[in-house]
Parts: sequence; structure tokens; C-alpha cells
Amino acid sequence: MRKKLVAGNWKMNTTRQTAVQLARELVAAAGQETAVEVVVCPPFPYLLLVREVLAGSRIALGAQNLHPEPKGAFTGEVSPVMLTDCGCQWVIVGHSERRRDLGESHEFIRRKLVAAVHHGLQVILCIGETKPERDAGQTFQVVRAQLQDSLPALTSDQLQAVVVAYEPVWAIGTGVNATPEQAQEVHAFVRRWLGEQFDAKTAENLRILYGGSVNASNAGALLAQPDVDGVLVGGASLQASEFLAIIRSARR
Ligand code: PGA
Repeated sequence: MRKKLVAGNWKMNTTRQTAVQLARELVAAAGQETAVEVVVCPPFPYLLLVREVLAGSRIALGAQNLHPEPKGAFTGEVSPVMLTDCGCQWVIVGHSERRRDLGESHEFIRRKLVAAVHHGLQVILCIGETKPERDAGQTFQVVRAQLQDSLPALTSDQLQAVVVAYEPVWAIGTGVNATPEQAQEVHAFVRRWLGEQFDAKTAENLRILYGGSVNASNAGALLAQPDVDGVLVGGASLQASEFLAIIRSARR
């Protein structure tokens, strides 16, 4: 049985005060959640603050990015060693906003993935097609290439530290989520690919999240799909009540 995972990607939002407030509200209402795994990914400057609020709860701390090198002359970057030192258990890799806006290459994403796992972090690896790619019927091709360019760098054992997040780019921050059927179709494709590329056990155990305009109203139907093992939530994770409602819908 794959335990459902609900992850909040706060992106470049919150202040010191609102980050702490949001984390407090989550801890108060879902701090001892056992049926669903909950992760929050605040901006770098607030990781330590949020970590203090999460201490003693079951909500895990994640970062939104990392650099593959453990240390060195990489101005402005944050290493996997620093993340674990700050109490992070998770990190997001390959988010489309970084692929697209910051020009992250497949190769760089692969290096990040490998470094994160090597340093004991669990990874949410994001993949997904753009609107023109979907319209051209290239969704599976794009998703396969993104998987192919990253996951074979890991062994089946190491893949236990990875979840894949299918996030169609056209659904991110647009209010237009993929339908449960569209999500299920791609998730099933990803699971088949995992079975072919690795083995049946890996394909069966690896969690595949859906992301892109998930909110309290659509989460239930998405999470009811057989291959949707959780959600990666952006905008709706900034409001405690909304995020808590999404966690509740993952319990069923
Ligand atoms: P969204 O973002 O929920 O605001 O669409 C999701 C994501 O980018 O992870």
C-alpha cells in the first residue's frame, strides 16, 4: 500500500511571520497525522524557523531546490549538506518553473537528483508537458524523456527515496487542473515505464503525485484515481484551511 503524500510548495511566498503562522496552524490541526504523509517546502530563509515550529510533529520539512555540489564557490546556491543540516528531509527537483525560467537542463536536474539522494534527502522529482506539447500529442514522449534523463542514474534501492510529481505546466498556477482522467492516464504511463525500466516492485511502490491547481474542491477526485498517490500543492498550500482540507481528502 502506498501511503498518500501531500506536499506544500510555498514557492517564493510568505514572510518570517506568515511562514511561522502557517506552520503553526498546520501543526495544530495535522501535526499528528498518521494516515497521510505531509511535507511543507518553505523558502530557504525560513527553513530553520519552520523547522522549530514543526519539531515534535509528524510534518516533514522540505526545500524547493538544491545545488548538486556539497560546498564550494557557487555564489547564491544551497547545498544538500546545508539542507540536511537545517533539518530538511525532502527537496523538490526539476520543477517546471526552474526548468523554464532558470534554464535548468536535464543534466543539471539529474546531478541534483543524484546528489540529493546521496546525501540522504528524499526527492520530489517534477515532470510534465507544456500546453503546446499536449496539443501536439507529445505528452507521453515529453514525460518519458524527462524520466529517462534522470531516474536511470539511480538504483532501484535509491529510488525508494524518490517520488515523481506529474505537473502539467499548463495546470500550474492557472486554476485549470488536469482532470482526474488526464492525471490517471499519465500516472499509469509513468508506472508502466518504471516497471519496464526497473522492476515490478519499484513500479508498485514508487509514489506518483499530481500537481497543478490542486485545491480543496478538486483534490478528492484526483486522489481517488488508482495511480494518484498524493498531490504537490502550490497556491492552495499557503492557506492553512485549504491545505488541511486537502490533507483530509487524502485520508480516504
Ligand atoms: P499550483 O502549483 O498548485 O499553484 O498550481 C503547483 C506547483 O507548482 O507545484
